[in-house]
Amino acid sequence: MSNARQNLIRILQNAHAGELAAAFAYRGHWKSLKSGAAECEGIKKIEREEWEHRENVARWLVKLDAQPRPLREKMFWTIGKTIGLACYVSGWFFPMYFAGRLESKNVQEYVDAAEYAKELEMKECFDEMMEMSRVEGEHEIFFSQTVATHRLLPLTRRFFHWS
Ligand SMILES: [Fe+2]
Ligand SMILES: [Fe+2]
Repeated sequence: MSNARQNLIRILQNAHAGELAAAFAYRGHWKSLKSGAAECEGIKKIEREEWEHRENVARWLVKLDAQPRPLREKMFWTIGKTIGLACYVSGWFFPMYFAGRLESKNVQEYVDAAEYAKELEMKECFDEMMEMSRVEGEHEIFFSQTVATHRLLPLTRRFFHWS
C-alpha cells in the first residue's frame, strides 16, 4: 500500500472519530445554552455539518477499502459525550473558545487529506476534502467572532494560543 494511501486512510479514520466527538460536544453545547441564546442556531447548524462530514469521511473510507477504528470510535464517543456534559458546568466562554481552537486544527487536517488525495489522483476526494476544510474554516470564524470581545479572551489566548 502506498504511503499516500496509508496516510489518507489514517487521517480519515481520525476524522471519522473526531467528527463524532465534535457532533456530540456541539449537541451538549447548544443544549446547555440559555434558551433563546443568540449562538444556539449557529451551533445547531455546526452540529449538522459535523454529522455530514462524518458521513462523507465514512464513504471515502469504504472507497479506500478501509474502516473506522473501533477503539478510537469508542474513545471519541466518550470524549464527545463528556465535553457535551461539561458544557453545562463550564460557563459560556470556555466551550466557545476550545471549539474554535479545535476547528482551526480541523481546517488543516482536511487540507492534509486533500494533498494525499491529489497525490493519489483522486480528484473527487480532493474536492470534497477541500470543501470540508472550507466549512471547518467557517466554524472557526463563527467561534472566533463569538468570543472576540469576551473579557477572558486576552488571558486565555496567551495560554492556549488561538484567536
Ligand atoms: Fe467537521
Ligand atoms: Fe467543525
